[in-house]
Amino acid sequence: MSDYYSQLNEAASYVKERIGDIPKIAAVLGSGLGGLVQEMSDTVSIPYSEIPHYPVSTVSGHAGQLTVGVLGNHRVAMMEGRPHFYEGYTMKQVAFPTYMMRLIGVDTMVITNACGGINRSFEPGTLMIIEDFINLAPSNPLIGANDERLGPRFPDMSEPYSLELIALAENCAESLGLSPAKGVYAGFPGPYFETAAEIRSIANMGADAVGMSTVPETIAANHAGMQCFAVSCITNMATGIQAHKHSHERVLATAQAASADLGRWLSAFIRQIPA
Ligand code: HPA
Repeated sequence: MSDYYSQLNEAASYVKERIGDIPKIAAVLGSGLGGLVQEMSDTVSIPYSEIPHYPVSTVSGHAGQLTVGVLGNHRVAMMEGRPHFYEGYTMKQVAFPTYMMRLIGVDTMVITNACGGINRSFEPGTLMIIEDFINLAPSNPLIGANDERLGPRFPDMSEPYSLELIALAENCAESLGLSPAKGVYAGFPGPYFETAAEIRSIANMGADAVGMSTVPETIAANHAGMQCFAVSCITNMATGIQAHKHSHERVLATAQAASADLGRWLSAFIRQIPA
């Protein structure tokens, strides 16, 4: 057994023992976007630091725990915080929680993030369904020897986000009176906020939003045969588009303000995901 696979197995076994019934759906909650957890009942929380081999994020705005609970007819595992490449973790470590979820038995990943808006029709607080991604990081979780137990050597990436889940989420949003945007997410490695020249070039590539997460998790989830849905909260306009300088505090404040709408929407959406 490869080290990585055995570490994943150890982590998955530990979590399974502590949570009882197995969730089929997992959600990753980005900075300031933890509100969805409150929609669940019968929750059990496990601090990441207690899960063997689990990479613990150091970023403020993340609770740093896994909470499993009930939403409608589903058991759902929510990751309150995630490891990032810019923290110095390898891409395999960044993808560890995703693969661990797969080994637990999860087949659907819902991913959220806070990010910068490039599309000028957006404003801070806009929620954007991610239709596709551009990987701008110098690596990805599949580099290196492939472990066939996790997925194929050359995974297809023509539909990284499930069209069915996007349609379901759009219906849910409409019935709640919300009108999320849709667009392409560019995954920049960070941790500095991009330069204005970088944003101009990323805009020319066709990106509508830019952030520092989500892409490695999406790649790993697709590799492992899971269906994915992702949504961005535009917490600020990207460099050169907004007039003021960036601050992490402002990002968190805007995310927290949008978190209630996002929580309402995603909880309705997750309840309607077919079993
Ligand atoms: N750029 C990258 N990541 C971000 C931003 C941004 O403008 N805002 C929040 N996360």
